[in-house]
Amino acid sequence: MTAAAPVVKSASESRVGESICDCVGNTPVVALRRLFPDPGVEVVAKLELMNPGGSMKDRSARYIVESGLRDGTIPAGGTLVESSSGNFGIALAMAARVHGLRFTCVVDPKTTTANLALLRHLGADVHVVDEVDEAGGYLLSRIRRVHELLAGMPGAVWINQYANDRNWQAYYHGTGAELAEQLAEPPTVLFGAVSTTGSVLGCARRLRERFPDLRVVAVDAVGSVIFGGRPGRRDIPGIGSSRVPELCRPEEIDQVVYVDDVDAALGCRELLAAEGIFAGGSTGSVVAAIRRTLPVLPRPCRVVAIFPDRGDRYLDLVYDDDWLAAARARRDRETDD
Ligand SMILES: Cc1ncc(COP(=O)(O)O)c(C=O)c1O
Repeated sequence: MTAAAPVVKSASESRVGESICDCVGNTPVVALRRLFPDPGVEVVAKLELMNPGGSMKDRSARYIVESGLRDGTIPAGGTLVESSSGNFGIALAMAARVHGLRFTCVVDPKTTTANLALLRHLGADVHVVDEVDEAGGYLLSRIRRVHELLAGMPGAVWINQYANDRNWQAYYHGTGAELAEQLAEPPTVLFGAVSTTGSVLGCARRLRERFPDLRVVAVDAVGSVIFGGRPGRRDIPGIGSSRVPELCRPEEIDQVVYVDDVDAALGCRELLAAEGIFAGGSTGSVVAAIRRTLPVLPRPCRVVAIFPDRGDRYLDLVYDDDWLAAARARRDRETDD
């Protein structure tokens, strides 16, 4: 698998950045010895949550925007359209602002008030879709709205992160390339939470060039259909999908671990208590997946985990005791059925 040459300069190559976009990347890697003290297994985390917009999605947004402006597929001063209610929308709004582009973001009623406010303050033109689609969710309605908007905005560009090769390439040149330099010893296994699958595939492709024996574990949400799972309710945003992304390549994934909302929240809380790392829901899913897989990992073993975003956007979800109690009660009811 080949990827186009990187178009962005890393922040470390220049001491003064041109914009907030130059602060994307160069995230640290830390050992999690307090959380995983097993002497036979070293677990390290790539703190993508330290990106300036709050998540790893800063990488794909910046890469897609800057590559597009460079090759003309995004016209200067043009308009971007995307359906996203979370991190990617915020990251795109940031990149659009810096590069003088207009951004129309299609969201649904599940978008948090904090994210709506952030998007609007970043200058995005926010369209809320409130009709439930034939699949019982909002995704298909959101895509329909994107097509309607595009029809009325000649020259506007649909980013479409689920099918855009520049999504995985951003992580191949970014997170994956950095990890290949940062890891002194060959990693045994990579754990990454999935939605579009761009980040895990980009990292895996880059790391496997240097470490061909690397195993790749995709951490998905219970209720997500990416790898053929049964669709169901999921309340934690960021992880999982109700459609199969065009980018998805199951043959490049060695194992899929499914984590539900309750275990994800417990993983977040465990991580905060043991390591002082305040992270979002999908990071909790990754922690829970590592915990579950630990007994069957070979010894010695080096685990690399990607931690996608910070905890602030989840204060009303995974860090809220009432939310957790309700999620637990729902899970208990479903188990009894
Ligand atoms: C918090 C969080 N974790 C994980 C993911 C999954 O990343 P990807 O879309 O690259 O599979 C996303 C994607 O939006 C995310 O926002």
